[in-house]
Amino acid sequence: MAKSRVQFICQNCGTVHSRWAGKCDACGEWNTLIEEGTSGGIGAGPASTRSARKGRAVVLTSLSGDIEDAPRIASGIGELDRATGGGFVRGSALLVGGDPGIGKSTLLTQAAAALARQGHRIVYVSGEEAVAQIRLRAQRLGAADSPVELAAETNVEDILATIAEGRRPDLLILDSIQTLWTDLADSAPGTVTQVRASAQAMIRYAKSTGAAIVLVGHVTKEGQIAGPRVVEHMVDGVLYFEGEGGHHYRILRTVKNRFGPTDEIGVFEMSDKGLREVSNPSELFLGERSTKAPGAAVFAGMEGTRPVLVEIQALVAPSPLGTPRRAVVGWDSSRLSMILAVLEAHCGIRFAQHDVYLNVAGGYRISEPAADLAVAAALVSSLTGLALPADCVYFGEISLSGAVRPVAHAQQRLKEAEKLGFGQGVLPAGSGEIAGAIATRSFQPGALVDLVAKIAGTKRSKNAD
Ligand code: TYD
Ligand code: MG
Repeated sequence: MAKSRVQFICQNCGTVHSRWAGKCDACGEWNTLIEEGTSGGIGAGPASTRSARKGRAVVLTSLSGDIEDAPRIASGIGELDRATGGGFVRGSALLVGGDPGIGKSTLLTQAAAALARQGHRIVYVSGEEAVAQIRLRAQRLGAADSPVELAAETNVEDILATIAEGRRPDLLILDSIQTLWTDLADSAPGTVTQVRASAQAMIRYAKSTGAAIVLVGHVTKEGQIAGPRVVEHMVDGVLYFEGEGGHHYRILRTVKNRFGPTDEIGVFEMSDKGLREVSNPSELFLGERSTKAPGAAVFAGMEGTRPVLVEIQALVAPSPLGTPRRAVVGWDSSRLSMILAVLEAHCGIRFAQHDVYLNVAGGYRISEPAADLAVAAALVSSLTGLALPADCVYFGEISLSGAVRPVAHAQQRLKEAEKLGFGQGVLPAGSGEIAGAIATRSFQPGALVDLVAKIAGTKRSKNAD
């Protein structure tokens, strides 16, 4: 037998280290290195104990030829199907990640029930909850009468043996990947080696039989349990279910999709009877808007093919601190620093004595650079104490030179704004052809300083400061 070697695997990124250290130099996380067997991790290589066998020739083929269409099974839950790109793909593996308690099991129970009612064979394997708990949830969701097949099991070999009986399942849900363990790996459940080996076995099952599988993964900050990141590259699709603890709505975001677009989101609201679809998210995000307060600007954003309007709130307050505070919720903090720097350098607005807080209403998270203009408008409005027009939307990217750059889908953003009762827009010059009543009342600054001048109600002066 080969000598067994000790190795330490980072539970966050999967990098193998030969020595223990407090910090992983690959990903920079602290306290994530755990001693494991030599059978896993990035760079671990094939097990040396296996005897070498002669390779088997595979049939080489050409790029052209028949393509088996990726047949999907649509759940009928519109927002979920939108995020998956039209339904679960047979023979593929999908990872649904998210914080504990965000509603992953609820969403998948609802999807399982909907699909089982359509006549598909759906197997739900839970390693986290007992059968009674799952039944209780199903009752609450009004799904107890659907023919979903249920098991509470964590061993991969047992699960595979169980589903081998009877008709091949159309969809197999494994809740969660962190609880699975396989006899093939000798590490503890929840470690990178186990998570990866179990996921691999299940994905192999999906590819070889044509069943669709869903792996649930908890995202943890502590790194004690291997995060779903270590299986992200193995699966065909990754969805993240996110939301703020205090808010009721949840966003299902596509991070990776081998069979569809990756910029779609599905929006849900958590109620006492499970997750409800929200087909018009803008109304939700603009829900409790106070229109007279300074520091609020409505951003006309896009999520994939769908426009989403959301309020951006800024608070600029005098700071007693030597290094003023900058806090951001729902947006990129380095992007905020950039906007502040552009406002200082090109528009002569000083934030050095001020704390700056930025919040995207309702726990929504924006990743588009098109939000720059709305952020700048909210910041200037808060600093000057001048409220922005309540019926105005903003979008546009700001470059480091202070220019306002066009972004895609200007017409669609304006159309959505008009539909929701907005009468004017501030958008980049050169946004292409825009039509509609709102277009005639829109302001198209070429530079950020023009917008600042408009908000302050003053003429643009060359020497703004
Ligand atoms: P759950 O699906 O168990 O989360 P996860 O699987 O992501 O850990 O959802 C847990 C939360 O959702 C819990 O705090 C209770 C809440 N919830 C509702 O508000 N309404 C419902 O109908 C259900 C089933 C759960
Ligand atoms: Mg759960």
